[in-house]
Amino acid sequence: MSQKLIIDTKAFEAQYPDKPFYVKHNLCNHPLFKIERLLELLKVLPEHKVDYYTGKVGVNEDKKKAPPTGLTAEETISQIKSAQSWLVLKNVERDPEYRQLVEDCLNEVAPLAQPISPGVKQYEGWIFLTSPGSLTPYHLDPEHNFLLQIRGKKQCYVFDANDRDLLSEEEIENFYARFGVVGKLEFNERYQDKAYSYMMEPGNGVFVPVNAPHWLQVQDDISISFSITYYSKDVYRRTRLFRFNSQLRKMGITPSPYGQSPTRDAIKDAFIAPIQNTKKLFGFGPKKNQQY
Ligand SMILES: [Fe+2]
Repeated sequence: MSQKLIIDTKAFEAQYPDKPFYVKHNLCNHPLFKIERLLELLKVLPEHKVDYYTGKVGVNEDKKKAPPTGLTAEETISQIKSAQSWLVLKNVERDPEYRQLVEDCLNEVAPLAQPISPGVKQYEGWIFLTSPGSLTPYHLDPEHNFLLQIRGKKQCYVFDANDRDLLSEEEIENFYARFGVVGKLEFNERYQDKAYSYMMEPGNGVFVPVNAPHWLQVQDDISISFSITYYSKDVYRRTRLFRFNSQLRKMGITPSPYGQSPTRDAIKDAFIAPIQNTKKLFGFGPKKNQQY
């Protein structure tokens, strides 16, 4: 098995898991990313594992509320150059060939990630096809995410997940209260000065940390990106606590923010973790709902 990713271990150790950083990969000519093969993949994925919208949206817009493109998913993929669209194939690991590729890639990440954030699991893969000039609005995702650029160029702006001036505690809690379903995240122009800026091009990629807001703009060619994601023990724990804090807030109690008091977090988690484990209440835990 040939090496898929090229990761600077010093950058990884310095930045992971809270800060973004560049990686490289050897996947640009992989047959699984040819348009013909992606059209075959489309046929085996259930309908709810394919989302597509117009790519003509602003950074602060909700693309789900934009008018439909009038194209089918198949038309969107085969005409992606002119479709002015954004399309995602979700959980591509449902197909055995794609599953193998996701596993091969993330098995290269796991030995680096595991000592820093133990409990690496739930490997998933997502493929994004985007028309020239299309924009992916400002949002956050609940997983560790290596976003690999296969074709075309895409400008990627990533923001600090821990900057509460950009992202309030309540915004994060609300995100997890919706079971991690991506919704509208409010962008203010003044945030842009705080962006980490990455030009994604074939052969490179960016590590996007859990909860780090980001937005992306495709350049002049079509874009194909491959996102490989996973969770870790601390991510599950954080998710439980954000969700619990959201419940407290709904009851009129102002919770201590996640991470502010390790003792309080431990007490809360001692209460809610067994509930999650028995799966009797609330449905705590991340869901497979990454959208971008
Ligand atoms: Fe994203």
